[in-house]
Amino acid sequence: MRKLYLIGIGPGGPQYLTIEAAETIKRVRLFFIFEKASEKNRDLAEMRKQIIERVKLDKDYRIVEVKIPERQKGGRDMDDYKKRVISWRVEKAKILAQVINKEMTDNESACLLIWGEPSLYDGHMEILQYIIENRLADLEFEVIPGISSLQLLTARHRIPLNLAGDTITITTGRRLKEKQPEDIKNTAVLLDNYLTYRKFTETDLYIYWGAYLGTEDEVLISGKLRDVVDEIVRIRSEMRKKKGWIMETYILRLMAEQVKMRNA
Ligand SMILES: C[S@@+](CC[C@H](N)C(=O)[O-])C[C@H]1O[C@@H](n2cnc3c(N)ncnc32)[C@H](O)[C@@H]1O
Repeated sequence: MRKLYLIGIGPGGPQYLTIEAAETIKRVRLFFIFEKASEKNRDLAEMRKQIIERVKLDKDYRIVEVKIPERQKGGRDMDDYKKRVISWRVEKAKILAQVINKEMTDNESACLLIWGEPSLYDGHMEILQYIIENRLADLEFEVIPGISSLQLLTARHRIPLNLAGDTITITTGRRLKEKQPEDIKNTAVLLDNYLTYRKFTETDLYIYWGAYLGTEDEVLISGKLRDVVDEIVRIRSEMRKKKGWIMETYILRLMAEQVKMRNA
C-alpha cells in the first residue's frame, strides 16, 4: 500500500526539524508541495524546497508541485466560515488524491511537509482521512510531529505555555474577537488577521508577540499590551509591506499572574 508521511517541519528553517523528521525526509524520494498563488504561499513552498535540499544528501528525489485554489473569501459569520473551510478541504482532498494516483506507484512512500506541527490548526490529517474513507486513493498515512509556532514563541520569550495549575486557551483571531476582557487569563492566538489584541488595550494584560518566528525576519515584542500595542501595529504594518505577508502568534496573559511567583 502507498504511504504518506505528514511531517511537521517546524515554523521556519531546517534547524527546527526533529531527527525523526529529517530521517524520514532522507529515506523518502517523493515530495508533494502545495502551490498557491499568494506571495506567502510561494515563500513557504520555497522554504520547504530548501529544507528538502538541505536534508537530502543526493539529488535522487522528485518534488511534485500540487496546484490548489485559494480558499473562497467570505463574511465573518462563523458557520459560513466553517462551511467554506470544509468545502476547500474537500476540493484539496480530491486534487491530492488525483496526484497520488498519478504519481505514486503501489508501494511507494511520499512526504507532505507540514508547517509547524500537523495537529495545530492544520487540515491535512482530515484531508487524508477523507481520501481514505471515500476511497479516493489506496493509502495509509503516518504523522511525524513537529515544533509549532507556539512552542517557538514561548521559547523565544522564555515563558511557560501554562501557569501552574491553570488553563491555557489556544484560539484564533476570529474567536478572540468574541471574548470579553474578563475572559482572558492566558490565551494563545494564531491566525489573527484582524489585530484583535487592540480590543484589550484597556486591561492589565501582557502580550508576548512574535512574527516570522524561526526565520531570518523574526520579530519579538513583549510588554504590557497598552504600552507596546502601537509598536506592534507599526512593525507589523512595515514588515507586511516589505514581505507581502505576515505570520504572527501571540499570548495574552494577565500581568497579575505573571508576577505572582516573582513576589513569592
Ligand atoms: C494554519 S496555522 C498553522 C500553524 C502550524 N501548524 C503551527 O504548528 O504553528 C498558521 C498560523 O500559525 C502561526 N504561525 C505559523 N508559523 C509562524 C511563524 N513562523 N511565526 C509566527 N506565527 C506563525 C500564525 O498564527 C499563522 O497564522
